[in-house]
Amino acid sequence: MTELKWWQKAVFYQIYPRSFADGNGDGIGDFQGMIDRLDYLQDLGIDAVWISPHYPSPIFDCGYDISDYTAVAPEYGTLDVFKRFLDGAHQRGIRVILDLVLNHTSDQHPWFVESRSSRNNPKRNWYVWLDGVDGVPPNNWLSIFGGSAWEYDRATKQYYYHCFFKQQPDLNWHNPEVKQAMFDAARFWLDLGVDGFRLDAIGTIFEDPARTDHRAELSLSELFTAQLNATSDEEQERLIEQWTMMLQNQVEQPGVHELMQELRKVIDEYDDRVLVGESENVVYYGDGDNELHLNFNFPLMNTGHPFPVWLKTKRLTPPWVRANQQERLAALPPGAWPCNTLGNHDSPRVYSRYGDGQNDKELARISLALMLTMRGTPFLYNGEEIGMTDLILEDVSQFRDNRAVWLYRVAVEKFGLTSDKALAISARFSRDWCRTPMQWSSAPNGGFSPDGVSTWLPVNPNYADGVNVADQQDDPDSLLNFYKRMLRVRKQTPALIAGEYTLLLEDQYDCFAFLRTNRADGASLREGEGQTCLIVLNMSDRTHTLNFDLNAQAIKLLFSTCVRDGGSDNLARLSIAPFEIYIGELA
Ligand code: GLC
Repeated sequence: MTELKWWQKAVFYQIYPRSFADGNGDGIGDFQGMIDRLDYLQDLGIDAVWISPHYPSPIFDCGYDISDYTAVAPEYGTLDVFKRFLDGAHQRGIRVILDLVLNHTSDQHPWFVESRSSRNNPKRNWYVWLDGVDGVPPNNWLSIFGGSAWEYDRATKQYYYHCFFKQQPDLNWHNPEVKQAMFDAARFWLDLGVDGFRLDAIGTIFEDPARTDHRAELSLSELFTAQLNATSDEEQERLIEQWTMMLQNQVEQPGVHELMQELRKVIDEYDDRVLVGESENVVYYGDGDNELHLNFNFPLMNTGHPFPVWLKTKRLTPPWVRANQQERLAALPPGAWPCNTLGNHDSPRVYSRYGDGQNDKELARISLALMLTMRGTPFLYNGEEIGMTDLILEDVSQFRDNRAVWLYRVAVEKFGLTSDKALAISARFSRDWCRTPMQWSSAPNGGFSPDGVSTWLPVNPNYADGVNVADQQDDPDSLLNFYKRMLRVRKQTPALIAGEYTLLLEDQYDCFAFLRTNRADGASLREGEGQTCLIVLNMSDRTHTLNFDLNAQAIKLLFSTCVRDGGSDNLARLSIAPFEIYIGELA
C-alpha cells in the first residue's frame, strides 16, 4: 500500500459561513464565530473543512456571486481574522479548503462593471457578449435558475450569457486574461496556506461555440411544475430527458478538461493541496492524476431518480447503495480516489431526506456509518451531527434562496396559482431548508445569535427540543456523541480508511455487508496493514441472523450500536439487531 495523502484519509466537514457561528451577534455567521468553534470541530473529530464562499458578494446567490476573489466579505470579517481562523485550524490539525467559483462572477464585480460599460472596454471580452437576432436573444438557451440565459444590456445593445441568475454573468474562459486573473486569485489563497479548493459548477464553464439551440419542449418552470405531478417512472424519465436536452449545449463542452489540467498544475506548484470538483462526472479525474483529486459521488444521494430538483424521494437501501458502489468504483480511472456525500447546502438535510418519520435517528446513524465505512473520502455538512432537519418556510418574504423566489413568482404570474399553492410549491424547491443557522444550544435563537437579534434565516424551532449542540454534548446517547464515537473508530481503524471494498451477501435486502481489507505490502507489515474489517449495516427494523463464510477463525468487535457480549462473535450465525451498525475485525 502506498502512503495515502491527507485528503484520502480525511473526513471533510462543510461549513456554510452564513449559518455556522455568529461571533459578533449580528444574526449572520462569521470567521470570529468559526474561530470560537474550532475546539468544537476538533472535538467532533473531523480533519478538514470546506468553507462555502466567504468572499465579498451582493448575496444574490448566497455568496456564489462573488464581487472580489481576494478578500473576505465584511460581514464575515477581515483577511486578518481569516488568517487567524486558518492558523487556528492548522494548529489543531484541521485543513481548510475554500470554494472557488470559476464559471461566473457577480454582476457587481468590477470586471463585469467595466465589461458592460462599453463595447470597447478592455474587459468586454472577459464575459460572453453577443448580438441578438431580430430583437430576441441569440438563442433559446435557458438559465438553470429560470428564464432565458441571455440578458439584454440596453446601454451597449448586446446580450450577455448567464448560466445561473442574471446577477451571475458567465466569464469567457476562452480569454487567457480571465484564466490568468482567476489562477492568480487561486494562488493568493494558496500562498496564504489554504489547503485547496472545492470547484463550483465546473461543468458549466464552457458553452457550445456554435451556440446551437436546445431542442427541449419544456421550459424550466414547466419542468418544475410537471415534476410535482410526475408519479410514473415514464413521466420522470421524460422529464429527465427534457432537462438533459435543455442544457446539453451549455454543459460539459470542449476545453474544460484542458482547463482543469492547467489548474491542477497551478495547485501542484504547492505542496499537498487538493481540488474537489462539484461534479459527479468521473471524467474530471482525468487519467487519475492530472485533473481533480476528488469528484463527488452524487448518484449515491439521488435516491429514486437523478432529476436534479432534489425532492424528497426514497430511503437509502442496501440494493441502492450496492448498485451505486458497483457502478461508481468500476467507473473510476486507475489511481482515482472515491468521494462520498449525502448532503450539502443545495440539498435537503440528511436527517429529513433519508428518515422515515419513525426511525429517523437510527437512519441518521446509518447515513453516517455509510459515509465513514464506504471506500472514499467522506464529506459531511454542518448541523448533520445534531440531526438538524429541513425547515420549510411559511412566508415568501422569508425566502433567501432567489431560485425559490423566482419559482413563486412564476407560479403566481405565469401559472395563475393561488399564493398558498405557489408558496407550497416554491418552499419545496427552496434551498433555504438546509441553510438555517446552526443550533448551538437551547437558548433563544438556538444560541446562534443573542436573544432578540433577527437571524438572516429563521432558526429551526426544534432547537428547543434537543436539536442543539449543548444538550447533545451532555447526552451520551445523542446523535452528536454517536458522531464523535464513530469518527474516532474510523480514525483508529486503518482498514476503514485505506481498505479495498468487497461486497458480501449481495442479495440481502435489509443489510448492507462488506469487507474493507488493508492488504499487507511485502514482507514487513506497516501499522494497520493486513487488517480486514467486516461491516454490517442493518438498514431495517428487523433482526437478521447472517451467515458469513469468510475463512476467518474469529472476529473481534470494534464497534456496535448495540450492547453485544463483547466476546468473539460467531460468523456463521451473526445476529444483527434492527438498525445495528456492526464493525468487527477478522482474525
Ligand atoms: C453550485 C452551488 C450552488 C450555486 C451554483 C451557482 O451548484 O453549489 O449553491 O447556486 O453553483 O454558483
